[in-house]
Amino acid sequence: MDIAVIGSNMVDLITYVDQMPKAGETLEAPTFQMGCGGKGANQAIAAAKLGAKVMMQSKVGDDVFADNTINNFKQYGVDTRYVEKVNGVSSGVAPIFVDSSSQNRILIIKGANAHLQPEDIDRAAESLQQCKLIVLQLEIPLETVYYAIDFANKHAIPVILNPAPASKALSLEYACKCDFFMPNETELEILTGMPVNNMAQIQAAAGFLLGKGLKNIIVTLGEKGAVWLHDDHIVHVPPYKVNAVDTSGAGDAFIGCFAHHYIQSGDVLAAMKEASLFAACSVTGKGTQSSYPNQTEFELFKQHCL
Ligand code: RIB
Ligand code: NA
Repeated sequence: MDIAVIGSNMVDLITYVDQMPKAGETLEAPTFQMGCGGKGANQAIAAAKLGAKVMMQSKVGDDVFADNTINNFKQYGVDTRYVEKVNGVSSGVAPIFVDSSSQNRILIIKGANAHLQPEDIDRAAESLQQCKLIVLQLEIPLETVYYAIDFANKHAIPVILNPAPASKALSLEYACKCDFFMPNETELEILTGMPVNNMAQIQAAAGFLLGKGLKNIIVTLGEKGAVWLHDDHIVHVPPYKVNAVDTSGAGDAFIGCFAHHYIQSGDVLAAMKEASLFAACSVTGKGTQSSYPNQTEFELFKQHCL
């Protein structure tokens, strides 16, 4: 196995809106799309579509969504031995609203994802130990995230932590135990309480975290690209200009592609450039996972873009 993602899966219920309704108002929206999502699952599928060998540890509910989610992982060759059903709860769902400027607003109902426990990691330990990288987000209980970080440290497996959705309760002590900390700008703002309105402010906020002892911080900035801070170095990877239709899941596309590339090359900057292109490609298509290109589609996109 190359990559283990210990995290969430959700069913994305995406409504494309011209205008959001006010309280008490009913408005008609033009289109709707349902698809497999969840930050953990998205990152796993992104890497798998690029050819990585991925194992997913996650929980689904006992509803109509569960088998669909498991089959979706299988379709992309993701190891689902540790994607387990929880009786009596719903699967995670995410109502998402995408506006006419392609920006997304997401609500999550964690459902079964709230039931992924530290003990589950122990049960999967033998498989997890064989992975070259562990990828984590914050749509599962924080104690499970912390347990996974300690597990990874104990077995000298590098960790990427995507602190999403942002939680002020996140312990920076644990963030320091991760090799890569990868927020988007909104998450960086919430986590630090510092403004992120321009590049100087973003660098100051990330610099504050470096000062707390975090190792590598990569902030994804959407249409502004991405920035990597470590020690005294700041490297900005500029964005690729594309015609955006739906930005939901673009951050996950970046992280999944970065993970795949990084374990192959060990080259952070090269992995960031590849991940920026992959995320750019994803925003040209509707949905989250459904918009991630496979290897062939990605090669075509790159030829067209570069
Ligand atoms: O990052 C995008 C994802 O956030 C969506 O797929 C949704 O399910 C939420 O988890
Ligand atoms: Na998309």
